[in-house]
Amino acid sequence: MNTPDKTLADLERRADESGGEARLTRQHAAGKLTARERIDYFFDPGTFQEIDRFVTHRCRDFGLAEQVVPGDGVVAGFGRVDGRTVYAFAQDFTVIGGSLSETNAAKIVKLMDQALKMGAPIVGLNDSGGARIQEGVLSLGGYADIFLRNTLASGVVPQLSAIMGPCAGGAVYSPAITDFTVMVDRTSYMFVTGPDVIRTVTHESVTMESLGGATTHNATSGVAHFAVADDRGCLSLLRELLGFLPSNNLDDPPIVVSNDPVDREDEALDQLIPESPTQPYDIIELIHTVADDGAFLEVHRQFAKNLVVGFVRLDGRSVGVVANQPAHLAGTLDIDASVKGARFVRFCDAFNIPLLTFEDVPGFLPGTQQEHGGIIRHGAKLLYAFAEATVPKVTVITRKAYGGAYCVMASKHLRTDLNYAWPTAEISVMGPEGAVNVLYKKELEAAADPDALRAEKILEFREKFANPYTAAARGYLDAVIQPRRTRRTLVAAFASLTNKRDKNPPKKHGNIPL
Ligand code: HXC
Repeated sequence: MNTPDKTLADLERRADESGGEARLTRQHAAGKLTARERIDYFFDPGTFQEIDRFVTHRCRDFGLAEQVVPGDGVVAGFGRVDGRTVYAFAQDFTVIGGSLSETNAAKIVKLMDQALKMGAPIVGLNDSGGARIQEGVLSLGGYADIFLRNTLASGVVPQLSAIMGPCAGGAVYSPAITDFTVMVDRTSYMFVTGPDVIRTVTHESVTMESLGGATTHNATSGVAHFAVADDRGCLSLLRELLGFLPSNNLDDPPIVVSNDPVDREDEALDQLIPESPTQPYDIIELIHTVADDGAFLEVHRQFAKNLVVGFVRLDGRSVGVVANQPAHLAGTLDIDASVKGARFVRFCDAFNIPLLTFEDVPGFLPGTQQEHGGIIRHGAKLLYAFAEATVPKVTVITRKAYGGAYCVMASKHLRTDLNYAWPTAEISVMGPEGAVNVLYKKELEAAADPDALRAEKILEFREKFANPYTAAARGYLDAVIQPRRTRRTLVAAFASLTNKRDKNPPKKHGNIPL
């Protein structure tokens, strides 16, 4: 007869064995850690508490009666990350392909409900063949139950998804609702319909990797925010990212003390803006220079490179940075950049992370592709997001702030708390060349030497508009600062805004142009 201890030991052993030695070996051979190894690596050592370890599925059809594994293909529980409570689940591909059953969905739902109640982040480590085919609608219902939790938790607790194996079909929509998605290079893929279906329906031939691998979703679709080389890199990145975030929307992000002097100046910044207004420079240099210890966690690095977003700390506090990148597409705003920026701004606003905007933007990207693709509706998202945000907002115009893009990029008029400009700022309705072509069209047509006239008028226009002083005289800028003093100015600015209180009119929710 079994003693209670023997029963427990036996169940624990069977749970640890997962899908058996052969499948665990196959998992390792594919370059992947197992679900339990991932959980152990992710949490602070010795802090993980597993829940529902002995849950098993109920379906006995299609051979499932012979495949009953305690835990049912998902390891779930809570533990600590840098001392703070985090809830996580890891799908176990060695157990029925990590497929989602009625019962393992219920485990995930229970964990999400608990995390929401406790105000703790939720991290999903995805590695699954999708809905468990044998269970039919029960597994589909399980997915929908999870999607509902993802939606309800959105904006309340941070939700992070790691794709560490297959993630196909409707399963992709849980990560898609979460705040950040990390994909592991070569071992993960995401798609709604796979290569076989695509071949049948559209006769296109495509590999899993090019259809939905880490590079595709980081660089092309923008579905993923980070690409990492392997499982350990993925889990370390998730921990690093959590370090910038509060546990929930009523909390503040953790303060990480740094020895970097708050009044550090950098003379090199005075030379960052090139002589020629059309010459590019790398805005990331500026971000590194102002950040504590030069540290910048860039989000969506491979996607819409004309807008840079990510996290820094200033005097130990998390700040979300949104910056035009003159080194890519001259820093223009296009559809992808607008959507990327809007989502990031809304995330920061939802989670009490102040926003820092660096602006050097010649306008929205012209062209039929952009207009027909809906740049009007997508550009409006970024405008809406900045306008709606009530967290502390600070903007620095380094060079161009032209046209509608001046308004959009956290201008004073959108409730930005402190607006600064470098002496190199140029604020006008459009660039000098375009403006002169419109204003002096007739004169240029009639001129004996149109090029000379154009050059003269451009110079005149530049002298009048290509500076920050008209805006400063109106109070649209609070100060014009020496570039070298940017870090100390920003540290003081955000410190003054720590207790900011602002709100939007009461409403069920706004109607952001999706
Ligand atoms: C049940 C599954 C399964 C599933 C995999 N397995 N997916 N069992 N339901 N969805 C099992 C396999 O039978 C196998 O069992 C083990 O998991 C490992 O699978 P392999 O095929 O051997 O692995 P691999 O060669 O690496 O291929 C992985 C795979 C493939 C590409 C994911 O398994 C696959 O195509 N699975 C089906 C994917 C799919 O169409 N899922 C439904 C998507 S629709 P053994 O016993 O041999 O180890 C969906 C709807 C969600 O998810 C709706 C939400 C709204």
